Amino acid sequence: MSFTIAIDGPAAAGKGTISKAVAAHFGFAHLDTGLLYRAVGAKVLAGADPVVAASTLAPSDLEDDSLRTPAVAGAASEVAVHAAVRDALVAFQRRFAARPDGAVLDGRDIGTVICPDAPVKLFVTASPETRAERRFQELIGKGHDVTLAGVLDDVKARDDRDRNREVAPLVPADDAVTIDTSDLTIAQAVARAVEIIDQHR
Ligand code: C5P
Repeated sequence: MSFTIAIDGPAAAGKGTISKAVAAHFGFAHLDTGLLYRAVGAKVLAGADPVVAASTLAPSDLEDDSLRTPAVAGAASEVAVHAAVRDALVAFQRRFAARPDGAVLDGRDIGTVICPDAPVKLFVTASPETRAERRFQELIGKGHDVTLAGVLDDVKARDDRDRNREVAPLVPADDAVTIDTSDLTIAQAVARAVEIIDQHR
């Protein structure tokens, strides 16, 4: 029987790390839904129409390393405000969620829109400063030329756009359990997530 774990939260809160670890722990498949929006954003930066890009997205489009750049992240959050772009990506995400072997999906609207009936919903968050510091270290490690102040501005701008858009805004589902990772190590955050999921299985 399928079992879906929905993990939402703002940028660089630790969703991706927790999602991968939880999927490995339970032997579930994992979909980082941010990659879908990043892939559409990248195509739009290259001149494509957003809705056409979203409707014709192929799994191979998600494997591009350049999707992890700040420019693509910004473009992703801009295309993500369009209802027609979001609608074009729903079926793929719901099919993934229904995999019989169990699935972890992480994003912004998994618990509220994509999988409102998921038996476990986590909302992973952290202070903007903590998230900017983490993202800064990650980008510096990959050789990107960024400043902490610039990354903090980008994180806040993306948060604002994600929280205040009309369609599928970033908001915890009523039945989501929040994990604030600001003062947790990765191991502690993952242990907390596993504990919550175990209570729902
Ligand atoms: O999670 P990530 O930072 O890769 O997501 C990039 C952008 O894609 C987010 O800022 C958000 O605007 C959008 N997104 C979304 N819904 C999702 C996942 C990502 O709107 N489920």
